[in-house]
Amino acid sequence: MLGTLVLFVLIGTGCVTSDVGPQDYMTVEGPVARRADSLWNVTFAIAVIVFVIVQGLLVYAIVKFRHRPGRQAAQFHGNTKVEVVLTLIPALILAGLAIPTVKAIADLSEKPEGALNVTVTAKQFWWQYEYTDHGVMTANEMHVPTGQPVFLTLEGADVIHSFWIPKLTGTQDVIPGRTNHMHFQADEPGEYYGQCKEYCGLSHANMRLRVIAHPPAEFERWVAEQQEEAEDPTDPLAQEGQEIFMQTCTNCHAIAGTDAKATTAPDLTHFASRSTFAGAMFDNNTENLRTWIRDPLAVKPGSLMPDYGLSEDQIDAVVAYLQTLR
Ligand code: CUA
Repeated sequence: MLGTLVLFVLIGTGCVTSDVGPQDYMTVEGPVARRADSLWNVTFAIAVIVFVIVQGLLVYAIVKFRHRPGRQAAQFHGNTKVEVVLTLIPALILAGLAIPTVKAIADLSEKPEGALNVTVTAKQFWWQYEYTDHGVMTANEMHVPTGQPVFLTLEGADVIHSFWIPKLTGTQDVIPGRTNHMHFQADEPGEYYGQCKEYCGLSHANMRLRVIAHPPAEFERWVAEQQEEAEDPTDPLAQEGQEIFMQTCTNCHAIAGTDAKATTAPDLTHFASRSTFAGAMFDNNTENLRTWIRDPLAVKPGSLMPDYGLSEDQIDAVVAYLQTLR
């Protein structure tokens, strides 16, 4: 227990880094996450001091006033002075902590100036991102520029989810019939992992996401690419795949520049430009796509993607088509 306590103290005070993975919230990035982290540092330091004092007094009292042969353990009941002091000290500490906490909550709930607007819609079990200023629609992987705040408008399509990118910001519930907001900012280019944090059904754990931060010029290029409509494939296998797609998948999916316009499932206009799919659960490669289309529910329970019973040849064709959607 002492070892654990010492480790917590070292981590809490920043003496050792706890960077154990891509979703480690103890090593944060960006001003929003740093603001919350600094509150935690203060709270934790005070908690450690209180812990040491209280445990020290406890050990002292146990030793000093213990029962000895021929002597009763000391007893006393009711001491108004002690009780007032023991009530006042925690009240003052909590009141003191409330000041920076409430200020941080108020500051972080305001929409930052010059923010990129993204509307996040949580669905079972994936994330839809609409870049309302740019006319771009994508899923699961959110591309953002570094050094610019990103203002999220969060809406739930079915059940309650919760949006969380541990290194960049705290969590925000995504509730059907209600609009929530949050914002974050990435300082450094890179990939930040996140996931749904509210139990939402069978594939709650498979409802992952990524934020990919680019230098601003690179982000502009990404936006320009995403604004393009999909081109018709020239390869015969991909053409066959497009035909199958248009007969089968258009009930749910959209591909800009084609007749596929449904919005129940992820927009696939630039599907091949994504590194993952199905709630950022699988790497976007031929083998995983085949497995997914063959039997989605076998690899992602509760997914709304149906098994259309396509033959292996048809699956190959659809995969070839999807891979042209750069
Ligand atoms: Cu969505 Cu858990």
